[in-house]
Amino acid sequence: MKIGIPKEVTPGETRVAATPETVKKYITKGYEVIVEKGAGEAASFTDESYQNAGAKLEGDAQKIWQEGDIILKVRAPAMNPSLNIHEAELLKEGATLISFLWPAQNPELLKKLANGKKYNILAMDSVPRISRAQKIDALSSMANIAGYRAVIESAQCFGRFFTGQITAAGKVPPAKVLVIGAGVAGLSAIGTAKSLGATVRSFDTRPEVKEQVQSMGAEFLELDFVEEGQGQGGYAKEMSKEFIEKEMALFKQQASEVDIIVTTALIPGKKAPLLITEDMLQVMAEGSVVVDLAAEQGGNCAFTEKDKLIKRHGVTIIGYCDLPTRLPGQASRMYSNNIKNLIDELGTSEKFNINMDDEMIRGMVVVHQGNVTWPPPKIEPSPQKPTPAKVEAPKKGTGQKSGHSKGSSPQQVLKSTLFTVALLLLIGAFAPPSFLTHLTVFVLACFIGWQVIWNVTAALHTPLMSVTNAISGIIIVGGLLQAGKMADFSLPTLLALVAIFVATINISGGFLVTQRMLKMFRREG
Ligand code: NAI
Repeated sequence: MKIGIPKEVTPGETRVAATPETVKKYITKGYEVIVEKGAGEAASFTDESYQNAGAKLEGDAQKIWQEGDIILKVRAPAMNPSLNIHEAELLKEGATLISFLWPAQNPELLKKLANGKKYNILAMDSVPRISRAQKIDALSSMANIAGYRAVIESAQCFGRFFTGQITAAGKVPPAKVLVIGAGVAGLSAIGTAKSLGATVRSFDTRPEVKEQVQSMGAEFLELDFVEEGQGQGGYAKEMSKEFIEKEMALFKQQASEVDIIVTTALIPGKKAPLLITEDMLQVMAEGSVVVDLAAEQGGNCAFTEKDKLIKRHGVTIIGYCDLPTRLPGQASRMYSNNIKNLIDELGTSEKFNINMDDEMIRGMVVVHQGNVTWPPPKIEPSPQKPTPAKVEAPKKGTGQKSGHSKGSSPQQVLKSTLFTVALLLLIGAFAPPSFLTHLTVFVLACFIGWQVIWNVTAALHTPLMSVTNAISGIIIVGGLLQAGKMADFSLPTLLALVAIFVATINISGGFLVTQRMLKMFRREG
């Protein structure tokens, strides 16, 4: 099968749907790849790098559309100005197109694509929000880049450092950044502003993002107004008028303190809520910046102008809607990886199959064999992790038992203590003094070890295993010395051999598990 990568025709689009790295991966999977000359130029991927990756270069865009069984694109099909033909008419019969499409906003384009030529169209903006589909979620990849770039754009207009400094020329306070909406873009903006040294605070209607915000080192602002901010399937819901009023009062107070506001507040399928009004801009310091990521959906700021940078009351308001294309190399890498992961799900060059029974694939297929299949049947997004029910601590004297002291009533504790004391006295009466010294060390080691490990949270047990490797090493050395000392095979020799064996299992198991754990965090080539 042939994969075609045409050059994007939309003015200002700098991204490309496949990078030399992903091309290489397609080729190893048995696909042939044809790339239009100059397709990756704006994202700094040269024709030569595609050629080196094994792709065939083609100067004629029409040929790519007509030869490609699968066409990969960033933007939805549009009029090709040099050919003067709409891209929807260039696809060959039965071909598959993978690109952003925005089917809800482009019903006419959808009709154009369902034209009897049995096309299959997969929209990268319609990836269902389920855990399995995260690796394909191009909207999240782009929102992540947009959040980063929003902070960089603000830094460009902000006339001060982000980080605080004490210099001979004076003390510089750190910039204060407020991020409204802690979704993908918001969290990325928080991370970026924080890493530049700013003091960051954030607000979101969904209180469950509080921990994520705090884990990134930002302050989570809260309202003394209780309203559930989470709608169906874990998404945000439209808030009541009273909530929005309270929220805006908080923003007005914040506006007088902060230097930069990044707004990302949005409810899927709705116009962006208006959160930053003129009175807030008036209290912001001269030279402050507002970056409105929701500009495309109407904006969170009253004065935002789509795709423009304007100034009101001394505040710069940025409404750019093309933030990912301002980082073309990064955006192309992430987008092309999302597509590569999708292609992997669709089989191989020999067994390419659009499985309409797979809910992830079904969600993205907007035209299947020439028929419009959008909107897909509703699927519930991955359920949120259930919050474990709080277990009340047992009250004293109620007779309830805690997990640790299971079955240990005061009488039983007394019995076992008396038994242990009697046993120790018995051993003391008959055993040699050297045995008693070893036994004391052994009991103390067990007690201290138990106390230490008992207080480690379960999540840290695996790294703890790496530490126990060191202890196992000592056991092996001791075991070897003990086994080597004995001329004949005796009980201590046997015990030493067992100790060596068990400690070896612990060491190799520890390395294996640690290796696997590290692999989970390692990025692919
Ligand atoms: P998301 O849906 O993951 O996040 C939006 C967040 O806003 C949610 O956490 C939600 O709870 C919160 N929110 C909703 N109403 C709120 C309110 N009244 N007050 C405070 N928080 C509220 O969306 P994602 O992926 O993070 O994208 C954020 C925005 O960035 C979207 O509007 C998206 O279209 C836009 N975007 C803009 C780009 C650009 O170039 N300008 C590029 C990519 C995304």
